[in-house]
Amino acid sequence: MSSNIVVAIDGYSSCGKSTLAKALAKQLHFIYVDSGAMYRAVTLYLLRKNIDLKDPAAVEAVLPEVHLNFHARDYQTHILLNDEEVSDEIRLMPVSENVSAVAAIRSVRHEMVKQQQRMGRSKNIVMDGRDIGTTVFPNAQVKLFMTADPKVRAERRFKELQPNNPDITLEEVFENLAHRDYLDTTRAESPLIRAEDAIILDNTNLTPEQQLQFALDKVEPFLKG
Ligand code: CDP
Ligand code: CDP
Repeated sequence: MSSNIVVAIDGYSSCGKSTLAKALAKQLHFIYVDSGAMYRAVTLYLLRKNIDLKDPAAVEAVLPEVHLNFHARDYQTHILLNDEEVSDEIRLMPVSENVSAVAAIRSVRHEMVKQQQRMGRSKNIVMDGRDIGTTVFPNAQVKLFMTADPKVRAERRFKELQPNNPDITLEEVFENLAHRDYLDTTRAESPLIRAEDAIILDNTNLTPEQQLQFALDKVEPFLKG
């Protein structure tokens, strides 16, 4: 039986999951996997190929052409789509506006979950996403479900995007987060839902350092020696 430790972090859009997951992985020397980046990279591929996202059969047909790899470096997300680094492009609005529709397609989820489970089979890992504690790693030792006030989340994401996207508006960001949360929580295939044994972490009024300490306290009992 494997004795690796899995920390599953789920929650709504832009509520600090990846900030926490990266900091935790760095502190504990665990591997960090950003599962959202995988759905985003698949979406980028489909958009570039002009695939009709409303046609699940057309999407499924091209999935074998998508090869994803993470390139581990300094706990940031470096994702390769068919050997091309796309870490920045997957954060842009065209991908953000379409990713939740793609993530609702059964064949896409099936393939991503399979790859994610393989990554956490024998290594200590921190993975963030929407279905990590419910579907990908239902037996994870530590499950956190993150939430924060929607306005605070939109302001934080806006601040992050604005320097490279001067035309973007706070309203646009707020609408995108709300729309993705709606699609993610209402889809048929592994919707975003808190696993019964997940600990809620509302970080509306927490700094990144405070949320890290909260999570470290939960993982600590599982660390050996
Ligand atoms: O913008 P944010 O960092 O909150 O999102 P993300 O983690 O990059 O994920 C982008 C989208 O991928 C989400 O809105 C979901 O539609 C989808 N996703 C998912 O369905 N399951 C996951 N485990 C991770 C992401
Ligand atoms: O991964 P997710 O979409 O859930 O969120 P994120 O990318 O980790 O965080 C979104 C933004 O909120 C980033 O700019 C973080 O620096 C910021 N943040 C914050 O200001 N305070 C926190 N306690 C957590 C995140």
